[in-house]
Amino acid sequence: MLKYIFILVLILLLIPVSSSEYAGSNTCKTCHKDIWNDFMKTGHPYKLRPVDEAREGNEEFGIRKVTELPKGYTWDDISYVIGGIWWKTRFVNKTGYIITGDAVQYNIETGEWVPYNPGKVKPYNCGDCHTTGYKKEGHQTGLPGIVGTWAFPGIECEACHGPSSEHAADPSNVSAVIDTGSELCGKCHVRGDPNKIPASGGFIKHHEQYPEFWASPHKKFNCVVCHDPHKSVRNPMVDDAIRTKCEYCHEDAAKEYAGSNLAKAGVKCIDCHMPFATKSAVKKGEFQGDVRTHLFEINTNPNAPMFTEDGKYVVGDYVTLDFACLYCHTDKNKEWAATYAIKAHGFKTEAPPTPLASPTASPTILPTTEEKKTPGFEAVLAIISVLSVLYVVRRYR
Ligand code: HEC
Ligand code: HEC
Ligand code: HEC
Ligand code: HEC
Ligand code: HEC
Ligand code: HEC
Ligand code: HEC
Ligand code: HEC
Repeated sequence: MLKYIFILVLILLLIPVSSSEYAGSNTCKTCHKDIWNDFMKTGHPYKLRPVDEAREGNEEFGIRKVTELPKGYTWDDISYVIGGIWWKTRFVNKTGYIITGDAVQYNIETGEWVPYNPGKVKPYNCGDCHTTGYKKEGHQTGLPGIVGTWAFPGIECEACHGPSSEHAADPSNVSAVIDTGSELCGKCHVRGDPNKIPASGGFIKHHEQYPEFWASPHKKFNCVVCHDPHKSVRNPMVDDAIRTKCEYCHEDAAKEYAGSNLAKAGVKCIDCHMPFATKSAVKKGEFQGDVRTHLFEINTNPNAPMFTEDGKYVVGDYVTLDFACLYCHTDKNKEWAATYAIKAHGFKTEAPPTPLASPTASPTILPTTEEKKTPGFEAVLAIISVLSVLYVVRRYR
């Protein structure tokens, strides 16, 4: 086995490496117009924008204009705008540092200014997840506060497909790269260790979809089994970003739920199974942040904890009843929810549902030491050999 791997690696090393460069999404647009049209409605390409572009917005694609400006600053003090699309806006000054202070982050939903690292100096070191063709070395356009350089600000086609100038110039002979693995999305939809789901202030921290996904019952799939990678789930102009609906795979649960009182009241699967246990900008209630969780499973035990005692991590592979139910039923408590939860799909009569004697589900505690995402040496070798074969086959197809 080792011999073959060695030979394959040798072959791989001898093959001329693609010299594709980043061409930019506007180049791809010529031939992939429909995908480009969808992609332009997602937050991805706008994640980091030079200030003028952010002020212009992109009305045609439902992307708001950034009109807010922190107090005491003029537009001439700003080089880049960070986000400001769906949740919150932060600003980069003319020397490349993120503007910090007591009222320098704008929360879109509430229109409030909130603190961001008051008193601290914050270099813009976020490029790995916010730009395309990022390199850690150097300073973009010479701004000392910016750590690293990029080919394009924002997440462009080639952040997911790799540099594709050669494909764009000669699509019939050079194909672009497609990667359907969750690791692709997980490179950015993560916060440090993918085996842990970090929390703070009573909520899961935002951009943790990848570790949540690994803790969820859907870990055997990929993000793009459910998501169309080119479509926005947040943009009201788009309603088919989720290409595989819950009902498609959970026929029985869907049948059971259809026609129930809650279904009639317009409560959707994701309202209970993907509640807002995560906070990016705004805390809308004690148990309602502003990002949906991907944990899916609801623990119907009213005593199950959501977070570790120090509040820094999610305990298990589930959401608790307060997040799943009490953000709507604000006048009730977990014991009330537990009484009804297990039958939540089935309420179909006018009469109140029969309470259960005792809730049954018990929490599953997440393994903390097991390295789920670190394959062993054998596995790495196997992957390298498979990749080598694929690479060779693809190259000389
Ligand atoms: C001149 C036209 C043209 C341009 C420009 C172009 N493409 Fe393509 N692309 C094609 C054609 C034609 C195909 C289908 C050929 C094939 O299946 O390999 C394709 C296929 C693809 C595929 C699917 C590959 C596969 O294996 O199925 C991806 C991904 C892709 N392009 C990405 C890009 C990106 C990213 C850019 C911009 C950097 C780009 N393309 C620019 C014409 C173009
Ligand atoms: C290079 C980093 C990066 C990669 C790779 C990436 N994302 Fe994102 N994603 C982001 C950032 C940053 C945002 C926030 C952009 C914004 O403000 O909406 C985001 C936002 C989103 C959103 C919500 C915003 C919207 O408009 O719908 C979805 C859904 C999403 N990403 C899905 C995916 C999926 C699925 C993949 C893999 C196919 C992926 N992302 C790959 C960085 C990335
Ligand atoms: C590991 C990748 C990663 C890093 C590093 C990162 N972000 Fe993000 N950021 C994301 C993703 C993914 C999202 C959107 C999904 C979510 O919030 O759940 C996001 C969302 C945001 C938003 C909200 C965007 C909007 O449209 O409302 C802002 C603002 C933001 N990040 C600022 C920063 C700043 C400032 C830094 C650096 C100090 C940073 N981020 C570092 C991945 C990252
Ligand atoms: C967030 C990551 C991401 C971004 C950004 C992205 N793609 Fe893709 N793309 C994917 C993934 C993953 C697939 C795999 C097929 C699938 O799941 O639909 C794909 C598939 C494709 C395909 C082939 C299949 C199809 O749907 O026709 C083409 C062509 C393509 N992308 C072009 C583009 C172009 C052009 C852009 C920019 C305008 C772009 N992609 C932006 C992740 C991305
Ligand atoms: C592509 C198919 C697919 C889609 C789409 C899908 N699921 Fe699942 N779901 C599964 C599978 C398979 C399992 C795992 C069952 C197992 O591990 O025994 C699962 C498990 C679950 C569980 C835990 C079930 C249990 O036995 O405790 C819940 C809850 C759930 N899904 C809810 C949802 C919701 C809500 C949606 C829509 C947002 C959804 N699923 C979308 C296939 C899917
Ligand atoms: C009112 C809240 C609520 C809504 C809405 C809801 N569920 Fe559930 N669902 C629950 C609760 C509570 C459980 C029990 C949790 C458990 O068994 O761990 C559950 C269990 C499940 C399970 C695992 C047990 C089973 O019955 O197979 C699946 C799968 C599931 N739901 C899918 C769905 C789908 C699909 C929809 C939408 C058609 C949906 N749920 C709508 C609350 C809800
Ligand atoms: C079982 C299906 C499923 C899988 C697997 C899945 N998602 Fe989602 N995702 C959804 C649904 C459903 C929504 C909510 C759509 C809505 O708000 O209408 C969503 C929303 C999101 C959002 C926006 C959250 C918000 O509140 O705006 C992001 C970002 C995201 N997904 C990223 C990912 C990433 C990254 C992966 C893989 C690590 C992934 N998703 C895997 C179904 C899925
Ligand atoms: C998105 C908001 C929302 C969420 C989340 C939600 N509910 Fe409800 N619930 C409603 C609405 C709306 C009604 C219908 C009120 C009415 O018609 O009287 C309702 C009704 C009920 C009823 C009375 C049913 C009947 O037959 O009269 C019970 C019991 C209930 N919910 C339990 C739960 C439990 C348990 C959960 C969590 C697993 C939950 N709900 C999650 C909004 C929600």
